Amino acid sequence: MNTIQYILRWDRVIMLLVGYTVSRVASLDFTYHNQTQLERFLRNATLYYPDITDLYSIGQSVRGVDLWVLAIGRDIKSHVPLRPHVKYIGNIHGNEAVSREMMMHFIEYLLTGYGSNETVTDFLKKTGVHVMVTMNPDGYGISIMGTCTGYVGRENANGYDLNRNFPDFFKANTSPVQVETKAIMNWIQNRSFVLSANLHGGAMVANYPFDSYNSTSQTSGASISPDDDVFQHLALTYTRSHATMSLSPETCPGDHFVNGITNGAQWYTVNGGMQDYNYLSVGCMEITIEMACCKFPQPSQLPQFWSKNKDALFNFLTKVHIGAKGLVIDNDSNPIPNARVYVVGREPVHFKTSKYGEYWKLLLPGKYTLKAEADGYLTTTVSIVVHDGVVTRKDIMLMNTDVKSEGSKHAVYLPFILLSMTMILL
Ligand SMILES: *[C@@H]1O[C@H](CO)[C@@H](O)[C@H](O)[C@H]1NC(C)=O
Ligand SMILES: *[C@@H]1O[C@H](CO)[C@@H](O)[C@H](O)[C@H]1NC(C)=O
Ligand SMILES: *[C@@H]1O[C@H](CO)[C@@H](O)[C@H](O)[C@H]1NC(C)=O
Ligand SMILES: *[C@@H]1O[C@H](CO)[C@@H](O)[C@H](O)[C@H]1NC(C)=O
Ligand SMILES: *[C@@H]1O[C@H](CO)[C@@H](O)[C@H](O)[C@H]1NC(C)=O
Ligand SMILES: *[C@@H]1O[C@H](CO)[C@@H](O)[C@H](O)[C@H]1NC(C)=O
Ligand SMILES: [Zn+2]
Repeated sequence: MNTIQYILRWDRVIMLLVGYTVSRVASLDFTYHNQTQLERFLRNATLYYPDITDLYSIGQSVRGVDLWVLAIGRDIKSHVPLRPHVKYIGNIHGNEAVSREMMMHFIEYLLTGYGSNETVTDFLKKTGVHVMVTMNPDGYGISIMGTCTGYVGRENANGYDLNRNFPDFFKANTSPVQVETKAIMNWIQNRSFVLSANLHGGAMVANYPFDSYNSTSQTSGASISPDDDVFQHLALTYTRSHATMSLSPETCPGDHFVNGITNGAQWYTVNGGMQDYNYLSVGCMEITIEMACCKFPQPSQLPQFWSKNKDALFNFLTKVHIGAKGLVIDNDSNPIPNARVYVVGREPVHFKTSKYGEYWKLLLPGKYTLKAEADGYLTTTVSIVVHDGVVTRKDIMLMNTDVKSEGSKHAVYLPFILLSMTMILL
């Protein structure tokens, strides 16, 4: 046991004593929480809910502040085969502070709901939820409460906009990759997230890929992704579960969004955005949620924001359980990691299988053909039917290419064999 574990253990005893003697109903207050308070909140969550939480840092900001993630779910520290993982990333722009507090309240909602609310409990039994309250603690640190517009604190400590800092698949991004961005890139390569949202302020809208155009000739209109139907469904799930977001009067001055959703590029183009990167690099379905017209409103408004967003935040994540999932395995039933699973007709987007060979593909009801490919294996297709409200399980077995080359060796010899037989017969 190292010192930290020792301190944590005593912390826990003290916390529990305080909890019993004072009151266990004390809940998270509606104020803004700085980094110290945030870390205390996250540690306390792991002390009270050790069985369903896992707190980890994916790296540090430019100023050396840990980028904390709290993962929540039953047996969250173990691998449960084919259990999907989802994520929320708040406060990517440091001055867009509402999402930061919404993430803290959402954590509390899940933790207190586990074991007391059946819907929340069922969901946490079959899903891993990873919440990063802030991706830009340095920017938040210099942001000014009460500032509805403007840019102070938006960027990281080196002055880079983190939602313009990812590699872009359509147009080269020349801004140097920041440590916060790199940490996210490693994280999503290492954990196989299926569904995700990054949260902002300054508008009221759910924005879905693509944010960028796949052609220099297109300069306006929507940049439609192959999974446009699914993305619209996901975005609508959020806005229709939100108290007012799908109603046009709720849009901020000057904006007009039908049902509170928009294709990213149709609104304005973003080069190096996080959502396109998630989707095109690993197949994680990510959308961008703008949840407040005012970027950093007075804390008195936080209770309203929470009551409007809480069902939306929850219902959006439940959509991870639609479509198809399964294992990509070899002929000896060994999982094949890093295989690419495509939906035929929706290429080139693919889901990269997890280290356990798992894939998930969110789809609306219908008939589809899945295609799996991996280096050293024969590409294979399978047909699936997706029904409403349930996920279809379909494993895909890939044969080794050796088998083929053996086969083709025979194929090469076959004419000679036939020729020799013909000659013998003659
Ligand atoms: C710690 O968490 C418990 C349970 O959610 C809560 O009752 C208590 O107020 C929290 N304490 C602090 C210091 O956050
Ligand atoms: C965070 O806020 C608390 C309470 O207002 C304060 O005591 C503490 O110094 C603050 N910490 C930082 C790092 O700003
Ligand atoms: C349980 O949680 C679900 C999902 O967030 C919510 O819709 C429902 O109102 C909650 N039920 C109760 C009794 O709080
Ligand atoms: C990848 O994730 C696992 C947990 O699933 C963690 O133990 C490991 O340290 C991570 N590796 C890297 C390189 O981030
Ligand atoms: C972008 O366009 C090229 C050329 O038409 C195409 O080959 C490629 O698949 C497209 N990429 C995406 C992600 O749609
Ligand atoms: C699977 O393929 C490998 C390589 O082609 C072969 O050696 C092995 O016997 C096969 N296993 C089964 C169960 O067919
Ligand atoms: Zn933003």
